[in-house]
Amino acid sequence: MDLFRKKPLHDDNSSAHKLLPVLGLVDLLFLGIGAIIGAGIFVLTGIAAATQAGPAIVLSYVVAGSACAFSALSYAELAASVGGCGSAYGYAYAGFGELIAWIVGWDLILEYMISVSAVSVGWSGYFADFLTSIKIHLPYALLHAPANGGILNCLSLLIIICLTLLLMLGVKSSARANIIMVIVKLIVISLFIAIALTHVKPAYWSPFLPFGWSGVMQGASIIFFAYIGFDAVSTAAEEAINPQRDLPIGILGSLVICSLLYMVVSLLLTGIVPYTSLNVASPISHAMLLLGHKMAAGFIGVGAIAGLTTVMLVLFYGLTRVFYAMSRDGLLPHFFAKMNPHTATPLRIIIICGIIMSLIAAFVPIHDLAELVNVGTLFAFITVCIGVIVLRYTNPGLIRPFKTPLMPLIPCLGALSCFYLITQLPLITIVRFVIWMVAGFVVYFGYSRSHSKLHQQVPNHVRH
Ligand code: ALA
Repeated sequence: MDLFRKKPLHDDNSSAHKLLPVLGLVDLLFLGIGAIIGAGIFVLTGIAAATQAGPAIVLSYVVAGSACAFSALSYAELAASVGGCGSAYGYAYAGFGELIAWIVGWDLILEYMISVSAVSVGWSGYFADFLTSIKIHLPYALLHAPANGGILNCLSLLIIICLTLLLMLGVKSSARANIIMVIVKLIVISLFIAIALTHVKPAYWSPFLPFGWSGVMQGASIIFFAYIGFDAVSTAAEEAINPQRDLPIGILGSLVICSLLYMVVSLLLTGIVPYTSLNVASPISHAMLLLGHKMAAGFIGVGAIAGLTTVMLVLFYGLTRVFYAMSRDGLLPHFFAKMNPHTATPLRIIIICGIIMSLIAAFVPIHDLAELVNVGTLFAFITVCIGVIVLRYTNPGLIRPFKTPLMPLIPCLGALSCFYLITQLPLITIVRFVIWMVAGFVVYFGYSRSHSKLHQQVPNHVRH
């Protein structure tokens, strides 16, 4: 069956459509931190602590972080050995064949598109607060989607247009802007840690597990969102100057740095104010306000704006690269896989994705869909964890500059822990995910299968 035909490894190198290698180790590390630290820590931590885990939210971070660490080790191996800008999509193509690759690619498109749109709505909330603080008041109707009683969310629309323009300029300019904003958010998080350390009241940590272990696990399935993004580093494989050395360091390094920051911040947050007071949209600045640090709260607002901007930028970047890989393979229209010779970016893809996401962000009430991102990402992680084991057996001779340790234990733990986190998500989220996947099958059998480059290389008499 050609549905399971595998793509030869490193096939992309022969393509006339090539991305330029311009990203160094620092760029990759900052891309990872840029994509990871955002709405998860600045928004979800408080809600998950107040309603699900209590002060044990730090344990939720440990659980979700471990699932990500196991998966990141598998990503690091495949990014350095298989490469390609399609990330999990490309690994699935090499390991499992076209149908599974399509499923993963379709899933990644959902993950990245919904993440960027959802984070842009959070960004718009923070930015509107900032405008209010400098006495610029935007009307409610221009800050909310029609379903929420408004006309459109103009700030979400605006930020996605700005990011579209930035990505069109080229990956190097985007990476530079990313580094500056990541530094801002790291400074702000350090400021929070420094102030919070002087206000800890251990009494707030008791009771530590008000919702029991089930609360910790449900909290983990929600704040898993905070870790999403290290996978986007792997989409930079073709633009990395030294991918075999730098991708594993970029993926694992950014995850380690962010995990440590998350554990410290979440522990301190529940140690400086009662966890019950954290069910707000901006828990970190809210806690600073409760302690009387008005100025610090203002800085944290700025840091959150920078943080959310880089998350959108890097995930948007990842989306365009996965889309590009799929168009280059013919699974999405080949028309999109044209590279602009001046900027070395796939302009058509950046523009079409920018238009779709800005419309979603401006007009759709996105909150309900945000959890889809978790299930989509967990699914991609499971595929990568299984893929790394399969490729060890089917391609033992592949040059692996980085090897996942303790094979096959680590990827098995990764796949199992990600599967467990999926089971902790609300049923409606899983149902929505299945609907998206069914739509994917319709597109695959209606279009992609017959347009696939691999399929077209197969002689007619052996196709079916
Ligand atoms: N990890 C990213 C965030 O927390 C998606 O916003």
